Amino acid sequence: MSQPPAASHRHALLSILPYLWPRGEAEMRLRVVLAVVFLVLAKAANVLVPIAYARAVDALAPREGVGAMLAIPVALVIGYGLLRVMSSAFAELRSAVFAKVQARASRRVALRVFAHLHGLSMRFHLDRATGGLSRVIERGTRGIAIALNFLLFNIIPTIVEILLVAAILWWMFAASFALTVLLTIAAYVAFTLLFTNWRLRFRRAMNAMDEEANTKAVDSLLNYETVKYFNNERHEARRYDESLARYERAYTRSETTLNMLNAGQATIMAAGLTVVMLLAGGGIAAGTMTVGDFVMVNTYLIQLYLPLNVLGFAYREIRQGLTDMEQMFRLLDVPAEVRDAPDAKELPPGPGEVAFEEVRFHYRPDREILKGVSFTVPPGRMLAIVGPTGAGKSTISRLLFRFYDATGGTVRVDGEDVRAVTQDSLRRAIGVVPQDTVLFNDTIAYNIAYGRPGATQEEIEEAAKLAQVHEFVMKLPEGYRTRVGERGLKLSGGEKQRVAIARTILKNPRILILDEATSALDTRTEQEIQAALRGVARGRTTLVIAHRLSTVVEADEILVLDEGRVAERGTHAELIARGGLYAEMWRRQSEAVAAAEAAARAEEEARFGRGRSARVEGEMRA
Ligand SMILES: Nc1ncnc2c1ncn2[C@@H]1O[C@H](COP(=O)(O)OP(=O)(O)OP(=O)(O)O)[C@@H](O)[C@H]1O
Ligand SMILES: [Mg+2]
Repeated sequence: MSQPPAASHRHALLSILPYLWPRGEAEMRLRVVLAVVFLVLAKAANVLVPIAYARAVDALAPREGVGAMLAIPVALVIGYGLLRVMSSAFAELRSAVFAKVQARASRRVALRVFAHLHGLSMRFHLDRATGGLSRVIERGTRGIAIALNFLLFNIIPTIVEILLVAAILWWMFAASFALTVLLTIAAYVAFTLLFTNWRLRFRRAMNAMDEEANTKAVDSLLNYETVKYFNNERHEARRYDESLARYERAYTRSETTLNMLNAGQATIMAAGLTVVMLLAGGGIAAGTMTVGDFVMVNTYLIQLYLPLNVLGFAYREIRQGLTDMEQMFRLLDVPAEVRDAPDAKELPPGPGEVAFEEVRFHYRPDREILKGVSFTVPPGRMLAIVGPTGAGKSTISRLLFRFYDATGGTVRVDGEDVRAVTQDSLRRAIGVVPQDTVLFNDTIAYNIAYGRPGATQEEIEEAAKLAQVHEFVMKLPEGYRTRVGERGLKLSGGEKQRVAIARTILKNPRILILDEATSALDTRTEQEIQAALRGVARGRTTLVIAHRLSTVVEADEILVLDEGRVAERGTHAELIARGGLYAEMWRRQSEAVAAAEAAARAEEEARFGRGRSARVEGEMRA
């Protein structure tokens, strides 16, 4: 944390305020007002309780002319009961009315952070662990609930009550009563805060040890197989027990210091109570106070003691809640790297021409990935990009999609600089089948329909047929309603790729990027899909990135990318004739293919041969 905690806590509190008093939401504002009213009523009733109690005691005390007075104490006792009921009823009403405000604030904040995260750049997301981000949102919204509840309904009301009680005591009796109460509470609060701050380290140690023991246990169980391979069960148990022992020590310390805190608090309260009762006793002896007054003073202090009792806990929770909130709000301050220009316009409809002009790009300043790449893909044509791994092929597709901005040169779509149009309109025009397809943990139908939310079942199946995945889906017991598992892991690589192709077909973009879209398929399926993709690509500008050169033979132009530069360009025939890098790659791949085919033939022959000899043997035996 760069800021001091106090400042950052203040920042967190200020950030939440607009959500508690939302503009244009009359209902929420009304609820806030009602909650405050109920809070005041509850506290007022609470403060009146000891007075009713005291007057009842006085009315019941033996005096001359008894008997006739019985009606008064009964009324006072009933009044006492009613006040108590009102005190808790108003407190519950206040919670009920405020619950929605708090839930709405949490919802709005969570949504805002979520939307903001989606608006942030690829770079941010690659650098952050997604699991960690969702934990930050979860803890942050929980922090809002905790901090608000304790602050608004515990700390602040208690302060109000303390001041009210002090005022009443001053007004009814003497300043000494009010001063004693205030001093007692001041001592109590100071002691609690100091002690809790000191104790925090034990609490933290306990959490850290808990986490450590947990991590070890999980890691060890996940590595079940490895543990068995090396007969290390005893070693694992010892390591786990070491962590548990540390946790045991930390827990014991944390608990004993909590007992010390409680004991200290009780001592301070008892001391204050004693002084106040001595003062009241003196008042009775002097005839200025009644027995009822004595009871009243006592009751006030005990009543204040209750909310104060949780002060240490509340303080710790509020601190933690504010820290969590602050962490979440800090996410909102992260600027998006790729942003729409202030005067960005919609990408106008067009034929889909793509042009790179001397484009340079680096992810990190110390390593340039693209060193001046230029090419133009005329509308409806197909450009293939080939080259060794790490050459920057996928990077080109990321720049066109504007996941990053080029550090030099210009990327144009239909003549428009991609930086001058809105990201939304640009991305609507481009369909990408990425190198590593990831699916949502939902059904196949959902994942295909993702290309165009609202697509009908017929449209989904139409796209699936084009992507050669329909037949496979029909073989599944649950068909299109089959769930694909986390990130789509229940599908094979090739099945995933075909689902990804289907959803891009459904998106129907004017520009198509296929980044190794068929790399996970066997040669036969690939050939089938290639045919389908050719159909899809017809009339669209297409960028094909591929390792398997057989898939790019028909491209209108082939770009050989090497170390961020265009090493060669031309049609397949031209490049072969040229006898350069591409020709070399082609020769090697053809050899590999020939070798594979020869191996397959040999295997088939061997099997066929064995089969024949087995038959011959069988015949002979017969
Ligand atoms: N987010 C990133 N941060 C830093 N470096 C990156 C990042 N993404 C890619 N790179 C680097 O940029 C280079 C080009 O990556 P790119 O993904 O464009 O390669 P490619 O040509 O598509 O390779 P492949 O054929 O293996 O898919 C690689 O060396 C890679 O390590
Ligand atoms: Mg790649």
